Amino acid sequence: MEELQCCVVSCEKPLDKVYWDNQYQSNTTGWDLGEISPPIKSYIDTLEDKAIQILIPGCGNTYEAEYLLDKGFTNVTVIDIAPTLIENLKTKFKNTSNINIVLGDFFEHQGEYDLIIEQTFFCALPPTMRQKYVWKMHQLLANKGKIAGLLFNRTFESGPPFGGSQEEYNLLFQQAFSFLKMDVCQNSATPRTGSELFIELQKNSEVLVNLYPFEGITCNGCKNTVTEKFSTLESVLNVSMSSNFAEVLIVSKVEVALETLQKEIAYDEKYKIGQKL
Ligand SMILES: C[S@@+](CC[C@H](N)C(=O)[O-])C[C@H]1O[C@@H](n2cnc3c(N)ncnc32)[C@H](O)[C@@H]1O
Repeated sequence: MEELQCCVVSCEKPLDKVYWDNQYQSNTTGWDLGEISPPIKSYIDTLEDKAIQILIPGCGNTYEAEYLLDKGFTNVTVIDIAPTLIENLKTKFKNTSNINIVLGDFFEHQGEYDLIIEQTFFCALPPTMRQKYVWKMHQLLANKGKIAGLLFNRTFESGPPFGGSQEEYNLLFQQAFSFLKMDVCQNSATPRTGSELFIELQKNSEVLVNLYPFEGITCNGCKNTVTEKFSTLESVLNVSMSSNFAEVLIVSKVEVALETLQKEIAYDEKYKIGQKL
């Protein structure tokens, strides 16, 4: 993917099923390492319980799933939005049990997993979807379930991939997850040396993580004011608004009534917060 020149930022081309399927059809899969990423391999080698439920979202050619199956894991689900890829995977794994291959949108997926493996899926999503990613990950994980894998610790001129920083990830995931690990990776695949963080984040099952549609904000100053107002509400632990101001993620100890949120922003009639997703 590093070599890919995509116009998504400048022409706002949607990163949808058609976009991703075209990449597989035209074989422009610059992100594909051709083998399991070494840090993920090392992590898998530490796992003892082979019966845990594992999900790999945006799985691509999924060398990770292949490795898991070779190591004897019995409950591996992979999901990807690109039909051409999924067709290939179904052929490749046709005589293999213990793998569930799903064609679909991760954000529509239902299930309960002990471990979700992150390998260049987060960075493939438009940055406006990062709050939704946290919300969906929290929803799909079982009690004390974990996300483990890699996030870029650098920026890119245009994306995908879309980069980020440790500071940003801290603000995004805090309270919804406990940070068991978020360190600069020492054994990245060569082209990514020094530019990846290995993360192991554990679901905080004591909190509620809700995502609400939001309207009316047009600048970062107003975003900060609204975020601060929600943050001061009793029981709210973290508030994070998407970069296009269209969604707000709220982590709280107990349910916060929609009316309470609406009251906080009633000072500006342009602001509207909708029912949680
Ligand atoms: C950069 S590629 C990474 C593929 C693979 N993880 C790898 O490292 O080789 C991103 C993948 O996410 C998939 N994808 C993008 N949006 C998705 C979505 N909403 N739901 C499921 N898969 C998605 C794409 O089809 C693509 O295969």
